[in-house]
Amino acid sequence: MIQIAIDGPGGAGKSTISKAVAAKLGIVYVDTGALYRTVGYYVRSKEVDPHDREGVGALLGEISIEVKYVDGTQKVFLNGEDLGDRIRTPEMSMYASAVSAIPAVRAFLLETQKDIARKNSVIMDGRDIGTVILPNADVKIYLTASAECRAKRRYDELIAKGQTVNYEDVLREMNERDEADSSREIAPAQAAADAIVFDNTGMNLEESVDAIIKLVKEKTESGETDDTPPEQKAPSDKKGKEKEKEPRTDSRLYRVIYAIFAGIVGWLFQIRVINQQNEPTKGGYLVCGNHTSATDAVVICYGFRKHQVRLMAKKELFKIPVLAPLIRMLGAFPIDRSGSDVGAIKTSVKLLKEGKCMGMFPQGHRYPHEDPRSTPVKNGAALIATRTHADVVPVFIMRKNHAFKLFRRTYLVIGEPIPYESFAYNPEASGEYARITEIIFDRICTLGEEFAKEQKQKKQSKKK
Ligand code: DC
Repeated sequence: MIQIAIDGPGGAGKSTISKAVAAKLGIVYVDTGALYRTVGYYVRSKEVDPHDREGVGALLGEISIEVKYVDGTQKVFLNGEDLGDRIRTPEMSMYASAVSAIPAVRAFLLETQKDIARKNSVIMDGRDIGTVILPNADVKIYLTASAECRAKRRYDELIAKGQTVNYEDVLREMNERDEADSSREIAPAQAAADAIVFDNTGMNLEESVDAIIKLVKEKTESGETDDTPPEQKAPSDKKGKEKEKEPRTDSRLYRVIYAIFAGIVGWLFQIRVINQQNEPTKGGYLVCGNHTSATDAVVICYGFRKHQVRLMAKKELFKIPVLAPLIRMLGAFPIDRSGSDVGAIKTSVKLLKEGKCMGMFPQGHRYPHEDPRSTPVKNGAALIATRTHADVVPVFIMRKNHAFKLFRRTYLVIGEPIPYESFAYNPEASGEYARITEIIFDRICTLGEEFAKEQKQKKQSKKK
């Protein structure tokens, strides 16, 4: 399996080049812009302002988007209808750009994109592919060209499709759209830190395609890619051989305790870890989960096998005689929940900067019976992530509802790590911690909801 990420501004030739590369390599070409255009089309058809976050957000529940490949060509269906070229007009470009700046829209389209790449070898083009959708892509290219060159290509493309446009308007609209896409708060269009920036001004299609195939071959043949199916890749891995040698961050004592007790703990609490492959190989990440029981911390420690996850725990626990030394041995550290505990934040930042892993519960308290979405959440995780640039690993803990607390099935669902860059933290904007907290907590809740749905479907198909 191979993943090639192509990002860049409009008119750089991403789609034409990617299509040709896909055909030569025999892989799937995924045009992610088409998904944003499809949402834009629906919003336009409902006469809603595409900048109106609430208005657009309210429409998402009415939209079902399906991506199919017919003879190697991507088709996007909106509520069962193939929109064809109706999403390719300049007006739809502006609508797509506007709705793409809305976090709920990005979240809505995220899984569709990831899912295609999980199942196929892909070359995927867009604005945030190398930074958010495929952070572990084998090859990342940021394709660009001068604004005039890109506008001329777009103009020629539209004229060839029989549309009436003039060059000056195309150039102006393209510049406006680039500005909006690259300055938006969430997932701004930008080159990933490890992307190759490729300027193809003055190059024709064939030259660009050859250059990209050459880059892909160089990367593949130098052994920098691997054949692991994407779903088995640990998302925070860096490339190549480095990966197997990630240093462990456990204390020796912890490793001994884990070796002795993990089996017993797993049996007592009947823990099943779902999506173990999402556990990162590299340390320095922050685990965030829902909180319903005092044993949640143990469940997390059990489920993360490659690194010790040091959990933030309420300070009262550190006064209980037998428990206190035990949880200290497990690496837990205290937080005073009565106010903002600067000491606990400092400890967290220190741990993560040292490449260690830590865990916390954004809800701050246990809420055993409530729907997590209805409970309050605190901004500590967002604050720690922005100070350390740590990736966040969302987890959801779910228990079967037996009266007896031991021996009831406990599921720990590990979500794909959220790369820090995808938060697009803007230190100048207000409300950033709350916004990032919302992204993290939404991911946690979604994990639980999707898992519950899967369980239900399994049960129903068993009954049949
Ligand atoms: O690639 P395109 O011109 O079809 O994309 C239309 C708009 O969609 C673009 O202006 C920004 C948005 N987009 C995005 O935000 N992220 C992507 N991965 C792809 C497109």
